[in-house]
Amino acid sequence: MANSLLENEEVKLSNTPSARQLNEYLVWDRSTRCFHWINVLCVLGLMIIGTIILNANTLGVSDEGKVSLKILHAWIGYAFAANLLYRVLWGFVGNKYARWRAILPLGSNYMAELKGHIHGIRAGKIPAYSGHSPLGRLMVTFLLLLLLTQMATGLVIAGTDLYFPPFGHEFAEWATGAGEDHSKLEGLQPGTKEMLDPEGYAAMREFRKPFITVHKLAFFILLFAIIIHITAVVVAETKEGNGLVSAMFTGKKVFSDPPEY
Ligand code: HEM
Repeated sequence: MANSLLENEEVKLSNTPSARQLNEYLVWDRSTRCFHWINVLCVLGLMIIGTIILNANTLGVSDEGKVSLKILHAWIGYAFAANLLYRVLWGFVGNKYARWRAILPLGSNYMAELKGHIHGIRAGKIPAYSGHSPLGRLMVTFLLLLLLTQMATGLVIAGTDLYFPPFGHEFAEWATGAGEDHSKLEGLQPGTKEMLDPEGYAAMREFRKPFITVHKLAFFILLFAIIIHITAVVVAETKEGNGLVSAMFTGKKVFSDPPEY
């Protein structure tokens, strides 16, 4: 396994002579790194604005202010969704560490590798992984699932309140009772309480409830998962010293001995 890594010309970059010889391995390609940092910025922005929307009444935010916050949240949400969809596609064409087969906790060897990893942690001798460790694969898959959940529910909710794409047009037809008579939709503003058909609007709000519930729940789970993710990275960096954090900037991890996986 170690030899196959060293033979991969994409992986081995340089030998740096020092007290201990350190080798650099290109692991994270540029697209994966860009996705990661754009995602961090978007999620941070979405969480901050989401927290303000959640506590809007306590904070004394006016109705207009709330609509503006939702609009800003949705615009950042589009950037977040585009970046996430790009990453989903990159999982099919990126380098071997970016591909789904290196990320999802699947494959015939996965369980054996996971057991080896847990055993290594217990014995204080953790195997070196060039890409994600088996536990890291579980974490990353969980994080991506939560992000996809936020994307899907967010895109639906943005249609129900702001009448934003991709579903806003259909929700507007429903809430106003306009049906296919699109002239009745002219002048419909995000967050408006006017022009609404009480029955259609009430039915549409009922439909939206489970999406809001999942969006809020996933927000809290994501917050928890991000804390675990950052803690795990810091612990692994401290114990293993392979340049995990700088690798997300430069793409390169550092090993004194060739990684086992
Ligand atoms: C990691 C990603 C995201 C997080 C953590 C997040 C978090 C939140 C939170 C905490 C709220 C407040 C819930 C409430 O009180 O109603 C919220 C509301 C909202 N989110 Fe997101 N969100 C994310 C992604 C998105 C995306 C991708 C969109 C769509 C483009 C979106 C659209 C909305 C809208 C329209 C609301 C207002 C809901 C309402 O009418 O109350 N969100 N979000």
